[in-house]
Amino acid sequence: RITGVYAWEAFDSRGNPTVGCEVVLSDGASGSATVPSGASTGSHEAVELRDGGTRYGGRGVATAVANVSGPLAAAVAGIDAGDQRRVDAALREADGTTDLSRLGANAVLGVSLSAAIAHASSIRQPLHAAVAEADDVPLLPMPMVNILSGGAHADGALDIQDVLVVPIGAESFREAIEWAWRVRRSTVEAAEARGLPAHLVADEGGLGLRLGGNRAALELVAEGIDRSGLRSGDEAAIAIDVAASSFAEDGGYRLRTEGRRLTADELVAELAGWVADFPIVSLEDVLGEDDWDGWRLARQGLGGVQLLGDDLFVTNTERLRQGIDEQIANAVLVKPNQVGTLSDALDVVRLAQRSGYRTVLSARSGDTEDHWLADLAVGWRTGQIKVGSTTRSERTAKWNRLLRIEAGPTPTTFATWHHHPLVGGL
Ligand code: PGA
Ligand code: ZN
Repeated sequence: RITGVYAWEAFDSRGNPTVGCEVVLSDGASGSATVPSGASTGSHEAVELRDGGTRYGGRGVATAVANVSGPLAAAVAGIDAGDQRRVDAALREADGTTDLSRLGANAVLGVSLSAAIAHASSIRQPLHAAVAEADDVPLLPMPMVNILSGGAHADGALDIQDVLVVPIGAESFREAIEWAWRVRRSTVEAAEARGLPAHLVADEGGLGLRLGGNRAALELVAEGIDRSGLRSGDEAAIAIDVAASSFAEDGGYRLRTEGRRLTADELVAELAGWVADFPIVSLEDVLGEDDWDGWRLARQGLGGVQLLGDDLFVTNTERLRQGIDEQIANAVLVKPNQVGTLSDALDVVRLAQRSGYRTVLSARSGDTEDHWLADLAVGWRTGQIKVGSTTRSERTAKWNRLLRIEAGPTPTTFATWHHHPLVGGL
């Protein structure tokens, strides 16, 4: 039973304040978590409460912290932390809004997560086992690893936000992450061969390079794959987070680095050209978060690749259900802080899995040294995970946790790229 809930202002990886929380149980067990924070946030996400004013440049979370210690702590007092649904329902009820804008989704998620971690500690199980269904074998996810960054994560160096590598031929997690490391290193070499400053990294540890165009970014990563010695399109492939909401403008899309303005139709045709020319297996947020007409075009123009909705679905069951009904996209990015509770995030994962949509659990561009995300991916069997690059400790914390789970005493399986055929949507 929950006997104490404590909160404080911690820092995230961008150096911004974020909510830290600890839940203590009657048997003395405790769990704590710090909450991540996005930069290219979807407008339909649950609301992150910031203080405003001058303290911490307006980005303080003292109000959210007070909401944890006050109304949220009161709401969950005495509840069995093993009953996550009850904990989360009590948190939602205390807030009273659907977007958690009264007490803050950052406050609510801190308690939801800390309760789960405290419960796992209380029953002396790893978190991945505590959040799994009884008969499920833990599934290590296929990683999607950031190589080049643009958009809101690299001061607009590229219009598209991430170019990532997916080690699609890997047969284990440790092999997958080593292959991703190889591609990152050989992309650094390819960049240095062009005289580019490849030691500068962006928010998620990817290279932040000014390349004068989006296609040039794909060429550089494709060269990195070739230089790595891995077979392109067979062992290593490319994923892109287009993050199109971040350059949507007046009903169209403006590629600033190329001085071009495209309609939704033209953007889909541009992306189809990239898919034809590069070994691309996954495209995220190819159109704006409310451009459902454009997404219908994408279904026709980009068949065959994983089409991932992040800002589009914002880890929200209603938006995902609408997408499934209209056959929009075929995969969903899941970020617990977009919705505010673990139960709601799990509902999105299960709805997707029932509907043949793939699931990719994701960190945020502002993240922390916590590694609960790795355990959720394994226990919920999401099949894929996206946490940034293989540098910066808030990123490596998740990779290191997955490596430890793989090496540890619990038998696991690994989600090879082909374990889950693309059936949804297309
Ligand atoms: P964010 O970026 O955390 O800044 O939203 C991650 C993503 O867009 O996938
Ligand atoms: Zn995204």
